[in-house]
Amino acid sequence: MHIIAVRGDDGLSRIAKVANIYHAPLALIVCADKSKAWTRPFDGMKTTDIDASILTDHMMLEATELGLGSVWICYFKPDMLKKEFQLPENLEPINILAVGYTDETPASPERHSTTRIPLEELVSYETL
Ligand SMILES: Cc1cc2nc3c(=O)[nH]c(=O)nc-3n(C[C@H](O)[C@H](O)[C@H](O)COP(=O)(O)O)c2cc1C
Repeated sequence: MHIIAVRGDDGLSRIAKVANIYHAPLALIVCADKSKAWTRPFDGMKTTDIDASILTDHMMLEATELGLGSVWICYFKPDMLKKEFQLPENLEPINILAVGYTDETPASPERHSTTRIPLEELVSYETL
């Protein structure tokens, strides 16, 4: 894993070419290191995306804990990003986390009961 913390005018103008980070003063590019990824022997599946997403999720929780806002971003142009930040061949950008002080009121957690699929649909049970 590798994280590129992008800040400052030059870095932010470069990331603005590949993703919308909503004027955040910090963007964390979470990269998987393909050369170090664990590979499942049975089918060759690499855990790169999972590892990067666990890391991104934990940073998001910590940002919230610190009173910061964050946006998880996957809508970016990977090839342009690799070129813009001169990523070595082994690094694959998976997520960008934009971090800053939000000017929006956080959405109510109560919305989950109306905007998420019901628990019965999400979970199935195999009880012997
Ligand atoms: C895997 C993933 C990718 C996302 N990519 C983007 C993105 O590229 N741009 C963006 O504005 N928000 C992105 N989001 C944030 C979502 O648009 C949304 O704001 C967030 O999931 C909160 O949704 P909720 O209001 O349903 O909880 C992404 C979220 C996830 C989980």
